[in-house]
Amino acid sequence: MNNQSNLYDIGVIGLGVMGKNLALNIADNNYRVAAFDLDEIKVQDTVKQEELERKQFLKQSTQARILGCNNLSEMISKLEKPRVLLLSVPAGAPVDGVCQSLIEVGIEDDDIVIDTGNSLWTDTLEREKRYAKDFLFFSCAISGGEVGARFGPSLMPSGSLKAWQRIEPIWQAIAAKVDANTGLPIERFEPGNPVTEGEPCTTYIGPAGSGHYVKMVHNGIEYADMQLICEAYHLLNQGLGLSASEVGDVFERWNKGSLNSYLMEISADILKQADPLTGAPLVEMILDKAGQKGTGLWTAVSSLQIGCPAPTIAEAVYARALSTQKKQRHQLSQRLSGPSQVALVNTDKQAFIDQLENALYCAKVSCYAQGFQLMAMQANEQGWQLDFGEIAKIWRAGCIIRATFLQSITQAYQQDGELENLLMAETFAKALSEKQQDWRVAISGAVLSGIPAPCISSALAYYDGYRSETLPASLLQGQRDFFGAHTFERIDKPHGEKYHLNWSGDRRINKV
Ligand code: 6PG
Repeated sequence: MNNQSNLYDIGVIGLGVMGKNLALNIADNNYRVAAFDLDEIKVQDTVKQEELERKQFLKQSTQARILGCNNLSEMISKLEKPRVLLLSVPAGAPVDGVCQSLIEVGIEDDDIVIDTGNSLWTDTLEREKRYAKDFLFFSCAISGGEVGARFGPSLMPSGSLKAWQRIEPIWQAIAAKVDANTGLPIERFEPGNPVTEGEPCTTYIGPAGSGHYVKMVHNGIEYADMQLICEAYHLLNQGLGLSASEVGDVFERWNKGSLNSYLMEISADILKQADPLTGAPLVEMILDKAGQKGTGLWTAVSSLQIGCPAPTIAEAVYARALSTQKKQRHQLSQRLSGPSQVALVNTDKQAFIDQLENALYCAKVSCYAQGFQLMAMQANEQGWQLDFGEIAKIWRAGCIIRATFLQSITQAYQQDGELENLLMAETFAKALSEKQQDWRVAISGAVLSGIPAPCISSALAYYDGYRSETLPASLLQGQRDFFGAHTFERIDKPHGEKYHLNWSGDRRINKV
């Protein structure tokens, strides 16, 4: 905190929900903030909110901790040098718009500009180069939504180490915290009383682009995790005939065990909520068309580009896409037949609920294994040294996918920093081997009932794929050689030697 001068510690540009809450969080941690938004009302609103909270919760302090600025010129004149500016503007063109304006108002080359939006990681790479002569372009992907931003998000900073050293104390102060002994979040949602104890959920991820890549994969996992929970709801509701609120009760129970997570907790809450307008379960009144802003899609695309299987993440994106085709679904629901009877009707309900709990746990491990392997492959490609134990650690609190389970991932990487795939970690290999039969039973229940469960089942296909020493790619290579002379390797010859069979002629085999 800067007590010596009238200058401010950090500038926050963009005071939407995230920017405003970040500014308040930073102020709560005793840093002085200069704030600006093109919308004057948002500036006034942020300043007023700080004043209100200060008077209400910090009765002894009278000095304003947030200064509202009328323009960027004024803002940069109020900041301690080298300046730190945090951008909370929509990803894409607005980031470059603000960077350009900052250059015009005289930002200096050792000033730091931090993009906190959900930017595409390759854009971040580009920007670091583009603005290198004007200022230090840094990025910090943020997870946790508005409450996280206000009381402690998970922060994934990357870029220049010099910039990181300058901002690290602020980042550690505002980040979510985890109890070092239990690995559980320390949560206190009180203005003026930030959590100062525990391990902060932030760590330097690596060079430019790496933080946004890691956040992108976080979101890919988030998509899959959300869809897995939705499929479980669908099965329990449509398959087993439980009401929305009964499924909420099941989720509440699951949330006390190995499936404990923020997403499970809020899903239980949503399912138990009645619609204020009709009294029906709210979930039944919400139109079943899912939106998306694109980060899950980017993850799936990246996995395809790099050749790293992440089928559950891709299926989660497809599930959202299919959900939007409501008209076609309506028409086909009248025309295409399914099983004559829902297979789960006569099932022992409690037994199925327990099997599904195990299935969900296994699918979750499979989907995290996909996400972490994707990060590892990209890191290899880009020459990043990612510390996966640390990444799992900073996802234990503050972010949307926070879950007790992240502690086991942290431990798995602490035990073996070179772990190639989470499926190989002893703790997960053992748990999956024990529970996999229930996974299969749950999926057969879905298939025989005609209830789609693309994520739960693609996660099993991933697991089965990785535990198959032999795959039918041998036939596939034969097909490729048949129609395109693409050649194949042989199991009885050194790897790298290529063979072709003269399919349309004498059917002799030749080394190519
Ligand atoms: C987070 C969230 C956040 C946001 C996503 C939602 O980690 O805080 O991931 O970034 O909620 O952008 O994305 P969709 O609109 O694509 O679901």
